Amino acid sequence: MKLIALMTSFTLGLITANAFAGDVQAGKALSEKYICASCHGPDLKNPIAPNYPKIAGQYEDYLYYALKSYKVDNHSQVGRGNAIMSAQAKQLTLAQMKDLAAYVASLPGDFVVKK
Ligand code: HEC
Repeated sequence: MKLIALMTSFTLGLITANAFAGDVQAGKALSEKYICASCHGPDLKNPIAPNYPKIAGQYEDYLYYALKSYKVDNHSQVGRGNAIMSAQAKQLTLAQMKDLAAYVASLPGDFVVKK
Protein backbone atom coordinates (compact mmCIF):
# COMPACT_ATOMS: atom_id res chain seq x y z
CA MET A 1 0.00 0.00 0.00
CA LYS A 2 2.82 2.32 0.91
CA LEU A 3 4.51 1.44 -2.38
CA ILE A 4 1.38 2.25 -4.37
CA ALA A 5 1.09 5.61 -2.62
CA LEU A 6 4.73 6.31 -3.33
CA MET A 7 4.39 5.33 -7.00
CA THR A 8 1.27 7.43 -7.38
CA SER A 9 2.93 10.52 -5.95
CA PHE A 10 5.98 9.92 -8.13
CA THR A 11 3.82 9.64 -11.25
CA LEU A 12 1.85 12.74 -10.31
CA GLY A 13 5.14 14.53 -9.75
CA LEU A 14 6.22 13.66 -13.28
CA ILE A 15 2.91 14.83 -14.71
CA THR A 16 3.19 18.12 -12.81
CA ALA A 17 6.77 18.62 -13.94
CA ASN A 18 5.69 17.92 -17.49
CA ALA A 19 2.83 20.40 -17.27
CA PHE A 20 5.37 23.20 -17.64
CA ALA A 21 6.87 21.87 -20.84
CA GLY A 22 5.76 23.52 -24.04
CA ASP A 23 5.44 21.88 -27.42
CA VAL A 24 8.65 22.24 -29.46
CA GLN A 25 6.98 21.79 -32.86
CA ALA A 26 4.25 24.32 -32.05
CA GLY A 27 6.98 26.69 -30.84
CA LYS A 28 8.90 26.31 -34.10
CA ALA A 29 5.76 27.22 -36.07
CA LEU A 30 5.17 30.27 -33.86
CA SER A 31 8.79 31.36 -34.22
CA GLU A 32 8.37 31.27 -37.99
CA LYS A 33 4.99 33.00 -37.88
CA TYR A 34 6.25 35.88 -35.72
CA ILE A 35 9.65 35.95 -37.46
CA CYS A 36 11.75 35.95 -34.28
CA ALA A 37 14.76 35.27 -36.54
CA SER A 38 14.47 38.70 -38.17
CA CYS A 39 16.06 40.19 -35.05
CA HIS A 40 17.58 37.28 -33.12
CA GLY A 41 19.27 35.80 -36.21
CA PRO A 42 18.47 32.83 -38.44
CA ASP A 43 19.55 30.31 -35.79
CA LEU A 44 18.42 32.62 -32.95
CA LYS A 45 22.01 32.97 -31.76
CA ASN A 46 23.45 35.52 -34.20
CA PRO A 47 21.31 38.61 -33.59
CA ILE A 48 21.32 41.53 -36.01
CA ALA A 49 22.70 44.04 -33.46
CA PRO A 50 24.86 43.81 -30.33
CA ASN A 51 22.02 44.96 -28.06
CA TYR A 52 19.73 42.21 -29.40
CA PRO A 53 20.25 39.09 -27.28
CA LYS A 54 21.19 35.57 -28.33
CA ILE A 55 18.39 33.31 -27.16
CA ALA A 56 19.05 29.85 -28.67
CA GLY A 57 19.81 27.26 -26.00
CA GLN A 58 18.79 29.48 -23.08
CA TYR A 59 16.92 27.72 -20.26
CA GLU A 60 13.26 27.13 -21.03
CA ASP A 61 11.93 28.58 -17.79
CA TYR A 62 14.10 31.71 -18.19
CA LEU A 63 12.75 32.27 -21.72
CA TYR A 64 9.17 31.78 -20.60
CA TYR A 65 9.45 34.25 -17.73
CA ALA A 66 11.29 36.75 -19.91
CA LEU A 67 8.47 36.67 -22.46
CA LYS A 68 5.86 36.94 -19.72
CA SER A 69 7.67 39.97 -18.26
CA TYR A 70 7.65 41.74 -21.63
CA LYS A 71 3.91 41.12 -21.86
CA VAL A 72 3.45 42.74 -18.42
CA ASP A 73 5.58 45.60 -19.84
CA ASN A 74 6.31 48.66 -17.68
CA HIS A 75 5.08 47.41 -14.31
CA SER A 76 7.48 48.90 -11.75
CA GLN A 77 8.48 45.58 -10.16
CA VAL A 78 7.74 42.59 -12.38
CA GLY A 79 7.59 43.92 -15.91
CA ARG A 80 10.26 44.36 -18.56
CA GLY A 81 9.51 47.49 -20.52
CA ASN A 82 11.01 47.34 -23.98
CA ALA A 83 9.14 48.82 -26.91
CA ILE A 84 10.28 46.13 -29.35
CA MET A 85 9.88 42.97 -27.29
CA SER A 86 6.78 44.10 -25.41
CA ALA A 87 5.08 44.55 -28.78
CA GLN A 88 6.10 40.99 -29.67
CA ALA A 89 4.99 39.47 -26.38
CA LYS A 90 1.62 41.20 -26.30
CA GLN A 91 0.55 39.19 -29.35
CA LEU A 92 1.24 35.89 -27.55
CA THR A 93 -0.81 33.83 -25.10
CA LEU A 94 0.91 32.22 -22.11
CA ALA A 95 0.58 28.80 -23.76
CA GLN A 96 2.23 30.09 -26.92
CA MET A 97 5.07 31.51 -24.82
CA LYS A 98 5.60 28.07 -23.28
CA ASP A 99 5.78 26.54 -26.76
CA LEU A 100 8.21 29.21 -27.95
CA ALA A 101 10.34 28.74 -24.83
CA ALA A 102 10.48 24.96 -25.40
CA TYR A 103 11.51 25.44 -29.03
CA VAL A 104 14.15 28.13 -28.42
CA ALA A 105 15.62 26.14 -25.49
CA SER A 106 15.88 23.05 -27.71
CA LEU A 107 18.16 24.82 -30.21
CA PRO A 108 21.93 24.55 -29.97
CA GLY A 109 23.30 27.71 -28.37
CA ASP A 110 26.60 29.33 -27.44
CA PHE A 111 25.91 29.71 -23.74
CA VAL A 112 28.30 28.07 -21.31
CA VAL A 113 28.03 27.42 -17.60
CA LYS A 114 31.34 28.25 -15.91
CA LYS A 115 32.19 26.20 -12.86
C1 HEC B 1 11.94 43.49 -34.05
C2 HEC B 1 13.02 42.76 -33.40
C3 HEC B 1 12.66 41.56 -32.53
C4 HEC B 1 11.81 40.52 -32.83
C5 HEC B 1 10.98 40.31 -34.10
C6 HEC B 1 11.84 39.63 -31.70
N1 HEC B 1 12.70 40.10 -30.74
FE1 HEC B 1 13.11 39.23 -28.94
N2 HEC B 1 14.27 40.81 -28.43
C7 HEC B 1 14.54 41.91 -29.22
C8 HEC B 1 15.33 42.86 -28.47
C9 HEC B 1 15.84 44.21 -28.99
C10 HEC B 1 15.51 42.32 -27.18
C11 HEC B 1 16.22 42.98 -25.96
C12 HEC B 1 15.20 43.83 -25.25
C13 HEC B 1 15.68 44.36 -23.91
O1 HEC B 1 16.67 45.08 -23.89
O2 HEC B 1 15.05 44.01 -22.89
C14 HEC B 1 14.84 41.02 -27.19
C15 HEC B 1 14.79 40.17 -26.11
C16 HEC B 1 14.22 38.90 -26.12
C17 HEC B 1 14.26 37.95 -25.02
C18 HEC B 1 14.96 38.16 -23.68
C19 HEC B 1 16.32 37.52 -23.75
C20 HEC B 1 17.09 37.55 -22.45
O3 HEC B 1 18.23 37.07 -22.46
O4 HEC B 1 16.58 38.02 -21.44
C21 HEC B 1 13.58 36.85 -25.43
C22 HEC B 1 13.35 35.58 -24.64
C23 HEC B 1 13.11 37.09 -26.78
N3 HEC B 1 13.52 38.34 -27.17
C24 HEC B 1 12.38 36.19 -27.51
C25 HEC B 1 11.80 36.48 -28.75
C26 HEC B 1 10.90 35.61 -29.45
C27 HEC B 1 10.49 34.22 -28.97
C28 HEC B 1 10.52 36.26 -30.59
C29 HEC B 1 9.50 35.82 -31.61
C30 HEC B 1 8.17 35.58 -31.10
C31 HEC B 1 11.21 37.54 -30.60
N4 HEC B 1 11.98 37.64 -29.48
C32 HEC B 1 11.10 38.47 -31.61
C33 HEC B 1 14.15 42.07 -30.54
C34 HEC B 1 13.22 41.28 -31.21
